[in-house]
Amino acid sequence: MGHAQSSELHEHTHPAAAGPSSRAFNLLIGASTLVVVLQGVWAGLFLREGEGYNEEWIDVHGDGGLIALGLAILACAIGLLQLRRRRSLVALALVYTALVAVEVYLGGLVGETGVLAAIHIPLALAIAAVGAGVFVRSWR
Ligand code: HEM
Repeated sequence: MGHAQSSELHEHTHPAAAGPSSRAFNLLIGASTLVVVLQGVWAGLFLREGEGYNEEWIDVHGDGGLIALGLAILACAIGLLQLRRRRSLVALALVYTALVAVEVYLGGLVGETGVLAAIHIPLALAIAAVGAGVFVRSWR
């Protein structure tokens, strides 16, 4: 009896209270967040004072936005299927993905009405923070 009790205890405490984890989810969220950070690098390469924008890096930046969004959507799909016991983690990933979608949409409008950059750029920082938060929590 003593033996059964101790193995039960072990099962309960082993996978770090938070519950199951999915390596695919973790890596997809991490990759998406990394692309979001790189978006700032591409932006730094196309924003040139007084010389107009560098079109090639704008294209990379536009594609990067879609890649970040695609990775985030895949992560959410896997999270919804495999991480049912980690609702708050998956919910945070859904919030992250929604913010990336808004960011991509706004990005397309920045070129037309420059004032939207005042939302697009700070939102990018917030998204990077939320993505990093999801990533860190996903390993716990
Ligand atoms: C510090 C970070 C960022 C800065 C400074 C920045 C800046 C800009 C600027 C100035 C534009 C307008 C370019 C134009 O004239 O068309 C733009 C467009 C865009 N941005 Fe960002 N951005 C950042 C992060 C992001 C992130 C995180 C995403 C999405 C994950 C994103 C997605 C887009 C998209 C899809 C466009 C439209 C590109 C196009 O017209 O083809 N940006 N961004």
